[in-house]
Amino acid sequence: SADVVPQAPEDPLFGLMAAFKKDSDAKKVDLGIGAYRDDNAKPWVLPVVKQAEELLRKDPDLNHEYLPIAGLADFTSASQKLILGKSSPAITDKRVVSLQSVSGTGALHLGALFLTRFYNPAAADAKTIYVSTPTWANHNQLFSNVKLPMKGYPYFSKETKGLDFDGMVSTIESAPEGSIILLHACAHNPTGVDPTQEQWTKVAQVMKAKRHFPFFDCAYQGFASGSLEQDAWAINHFVEQGFELMIAQSYAKNFGLYGERAGCFHFVAAPSSDAVDEVSRVGSQLAILQRSEISNPPAYGARVASRVLNDEKLFAQWEEDLRTMSGRIIEMRKQLRSKLEAKKTPGTWNHITDQIGMFSFTGLNEQQVQTLREEYHVYMTKNGRISMAGLNSHNIDYFAESVDKVVRG
Ligand code: LMR
Repeated sequence: SADVVPQAPEDPLFGLMAAFKKDSDAKKVDLGIGAYRDDNAKPWVLPVVKQAEELLRKDPDLNHEYLPIAGLADFTSASQKLILGKSSPAITDKRVVSLQSVSGTGALHLGALFLTRFYNPAAADAKTIYVSTPTWANHNQLFSNVKLPMKGYPYFSKETKGLDFDGMVSTIESAPEGSIILLHACAHNPTGVDPTQEQWTKVAQVMKAKRHFPFFDCAYQGFASGSLEQDAWAINHFVEQGFELMIAQSYAKNFGLYGERAGCFHFVAAPSSDAVDEVSRVGSQLAILQRSEISNPPAYGARVASRVLNDEKLFAQWEEDLRTMSGRIIEMRKQLRSKLEAKKTPGTWNHITDQIGMFSFTGLNEQQVQTLREEYHVYMTKNGRISMAGLNSHNIDYFAESVDKVVRG
């Protein structure tokens, strides 16, 4: 009966957002959720999204019919090209099957569900997904929901506030052959720390030797380096190396379509004479899973993104908008670091500019985070992650001063 249902804790991130909203102090600063804000701390509708919406509004043929189970075909095929590159052999060989998903979370879920049903590595204990420590908090509950066993691989070094590359590689190397390895394609959440291309190459070598299965989570393409191709480099390196792999692709951040839940799931088969048949079989099973879970995906966000992805002029405008977002974030990183260094705030602050993407893992501890919230009205997750986009020319001095005071104790 209902009275045995225990009360669950509030989601930490959405709880933080609610607490921020309630705070009536004028100085309050929201560095919680990873959503882009403009210099006035306001959500930003990308100019290119406004243009695409205008075109949609004028389209006399638009209706509210169901999309196919696999989603809007123009959207999924453009999504393949975006992430794998227009001339990817995987696409021309027809080794890719893609389904529109409920943003990145939905793609991760669909992939995870598929793995629980159909992934059969030789060693039973290889049917485990390895996630970085730390990782996006939702990964943990998402994989445990579908009962996919989970383990961690070291990722973040507290000493350098950079990558624990040796720890990462040695754990991946010693995982049972055929293990599933979840990799953040770029702009790692929560740390903002990415492997270099040389390090990715080594990770791929180790994974190939161990016949591991890569599952890429790509939520920030265009947000890390400002270049769409460069941010998909790791994925494409793995594809070139002949891996069979999966990709969860989100358009929440790079299109600012957070609430529209636009995303795509891709399965790429390894090159083989059976690959076309394999993706057909995989796709047929994914369609059954999708139908039972969501019937068919939501249309609006995919239509907006599709307009842009399939139009050269709009695409160029989108790249411009991406540079506006990543440029402002990079500027905030520079300013924050230099303000803390100018104040001689104890510790080193180079990691603020070394890290990339939406987040910085500041190194502030839980106690300091709590003090910042309670005494300074500055909100961030308790692991010390800040969303860089929450900083702007109006609040950065106040934030740097608050951090300085809290670190000095
Ligand atoms: C974040 O980590 O802040 C974002 O990915 C938002 C979310 O859904 O957790």
